[in-house]
Amino acid sequence: MTVLQIRAWPDPVLSSPATPVTDPSEVADLVRDMLDTMYAAPGRGLAAPQVGVLARVFVMDTTWKEGTRDPLVCLNPEIIALSDEMATRTEGCLSIRGLSLDVTRPAWVDLGWTDMKGVRHQRRFDGFAAACVQHEYDHLDGRVTFDRVDPEARAAALATYETNLETPR
Ligand code: NI
Repeated sequence: MTVLQIRAWPDPVLSSPATPVTDPSEVADLVRDMLDTMYAAPGRGLAAPQVGVLARVFVMDTTWKEGTRDPLVCLNPEIIALSDEMATRTEGCLSIRGLSLDVTRPAWVDLGWTDMKGVRHQRRFDGFAAACVQHEYDHLDGRVTFDRVDPEARAAALATYETNLETPR
């Protein structure tokens, strides 16, 4: 088991766009380590830039804390459709420790992705999973929750985050 170091915002890697994966075998070790890291954190989603790798890969498991593990590995994800209906959820991020933000996003998302066997999938995600998919997808484009709230909320959140960083635990 390998637990990778999770980069903390404002590490510049978190604001950089990631590059498509050409062959799943290239990222086999990375994906295994990302799953170990996500479960150890503990978290429900982790994108490759969060462990310092600018590849279009994320892993998620939205239900494991309630029972058995059911990991989803998405290579080269693509947002195919988004609902007009919006939903606001409180989102945390393993790269922004100690700060949750209310983020408004489309209530469901149709996502396409490639699995570790190179097979392409498409599925609709709703509820918490829809927010998780969009949050992880954002990481691949160099966006975090701070980039998904209005300027006033962003300024307040940044001030709180910076104060937390300066306060010894
Ligand atoms: Ni995150």
